[in-house]
Amino acid sequence: MALLYERGDPVLVYVVGFLILSSYSYPISVGGAALKQEAALETGAMVLNHSMALVQRMESLVATGNGSDVSLRVQTVDTEEVKVIQAHALVLTLQSDVFEELLLGRNASTLVLTETAECTAVFDKFVRYLYCGDISVRLDQAISLHKLASKYHVVSLQQGLTRYMSQHLSSESPAGHVVGWYQYAVQIGDVSLQDSCLQYLSWNLSSVLQSAEWGTIGADLLLSLLRRSDLIVQSELELYEALELWVGQNRPSGPTVERALEAIRYGMIPPQQLFRLQRQSPLMQRHYESIRDLLYLAFQFHSASPVQLAKYFEVNCSIFTPRNYLSPSWGSPWVISSPTRDDRSFSFQTQLGPSGHDASKRVTWNALFSPRWFPLSARSTYAELGAMQPSRTDGGRPRIIVTPATSSPDFAGVSFQKTVMVMARQQGKVVVRHVYNFHQSTEEAGDFLVDADLQRRVSEYLIDSSLYLHVVVKPVYHTLIVAKK
Ligand SMILES: *[C@@H]1O[C@H](CO)[C@@H](O)[C@H](O)[C@H]1NC(C)=O
Ligand SMILES: *[C@@H]1O[C@H](CO)[C@@H](O)[C@H](O)[C@H]1NC(C)=O
Ligand SMILES: *[C@@H]1O[C@H](CO)[C@@H](O)[C@H](O)[C@H]1NC(C)=O
Ligand SMILES: *[C@@H]1O[C@H](CO)[C@@H](O)[C@H](O)[C@H]1NC(C)=O
Ligand SMILES: *[C@@H]1O[C@H](CO)[C@@H](O)[C@H](O)[C@H]1NC(C)=O
Repeated sequence: MALLYERGDPVLVYVVGFLILSSYSYPISVGGAALKQEAALETGAMVLNHSMALVQRMESLVATGNGSDVSLRVQTVDTEEVKVIQAHALVLTLQSDVFEELLLGRNASTLVLTETAECTAVFDKFVRYLYCGDISVRLDQAISLHKLASKYHVVSLQQGLTRYMSQHLSSESPAGHVVGWYQYAVQIGDVSLQDSCLQYLSWNLSSVLQSAEWGTIGADLLLSLLRRSDLIVQSELELYEALELWVGQNRPSGPTVERALEAIRYGMIPPQQLFRLQRQSPLMQRHYESIRDLLYLAFQFHSASPVQLAKYFEVNCSIFTPRNYLSPSWGSPWVISSPTRDDRSFSFQTQLGPSGHDASKRVTWNALFSPRWFPLSARSTYAELGAMQPSRTDGGRPRIIVTPATSSPDFAGVSFQKTVMVMARQQGKVVVRHVYNFHQSTEEAGDFLVDADLQRRVSEYLIDSSLYLHVVVKPVYHTLIVAKK
């Protein structure tokens, strides 16, 4: 180690020299720590930074294989194909304890590794990362690279790839990639990536339903999606038709089809459409027996007001629970330009409810958006202190309240749940960035647009300096059951 301190030349060059000369060994980490300490002690010293040059040297080291002391023979399973990479045991050991083990156990200067074809295809990229610490990734390479990073315990790369995947769910790819990433996340037990994929698919289902990717969804993923109430789709009918398409493409077993059919919320499909499906949908005709009771319940629901139905039947099952439907009878888009400027109001109409009995009755809703609104608690604090009311520029939080323009006896016992979807642009596409649920005021949600930073023109919640919202009103009948008692 003395060598490193006695010479006056730039330290970084020596580290490279050291890597080339030695085979894998431990003193380098000791030396590294000592060097760092010395740098910290020298206050007032000037940093000469040649890190980039170091990285370039490392890159040419792996590209030329100069001074290599181990050659990696990467064999592809089930084929004769072999890829040979001249490497340096010290660098591999530094980055991966799995390589350390393998190198200790090796006989000769060759290390034989067996990988799948996809992993072999990106193995050079992976090794280059071990030398340079940066890597370029394409959507279709993320899983293979993640597999390699996991197998060889390169934690930084593993974490970086997981982050890359959660941030690139909405990227354009010809065959779609989210379903593949979801399946991989399930396989490796990465719950957070799994949730991100599920949420992306749920919130952006309409476009997934129209893509080739929909046909590639596995039965388990299909059922998990169909059971969610937070799906954002045009209508329940759209979901039914997509299920029909999926069954046609995948030809699953009878029980799988039946479980999927049972997850459709028939109460949310208008009776006219249900009549048509009963007569014209081959899928419904083939499995009619398995959903007969559900259809019967749906027609009962359509024939009277939910209040009357609730006197005799449970109305809290999922068949009567709306999802987030984008069609105009359920709500409306609302684009707010320059949202920080001032309060905005907006009116829209919905049907009173999905039941055939209510569908022709309209309700007018008034929505009010305030960019800087103070919670009551904050105002009373001001009052207690005898201070002035906060001025408009003092901060405050965005809020939306949605109230009916008029009251009606039809509302008795029904609770109208509001959902505001906030769109954003990701990789050039408009996607749902956030979904907030509340009854009257987004204040109930607690975190409405809390991270949005609407003051900044480049806020990721703004599209061309406008806030793109979609408001949905969902009648929920659970409360009728409580009222009955
Ligand atoms: C040296 O430069 C690189 C980029 O050129 C930079 O990322 C790094 O932080 C710098 N290091 C120091 C100690 O200034
Ligand atoms: C690699 O080694 C050869 C011979 O030892 C030398 O001529 C060449 O310059 C080296 N290449 C690099 C990039 O260091
Ligand atoms: C090491 O060499 C012995 C004999 O040459 C061989 O049987 C054994 O499989 C080798 N081990 C590895 C890990 O290559
Ligand atoms: C519906 O409500 C009844 C009575 O309140 C309860 O026993 C039942 O578990 C509920 N069902 C669902 C699906 O929530
Ligand atoms: C879903 O994403 C597609 C493109 O991926 C986009 O065109 C569409 O607007 C998104 N849908 C929603 C509801 O955000």
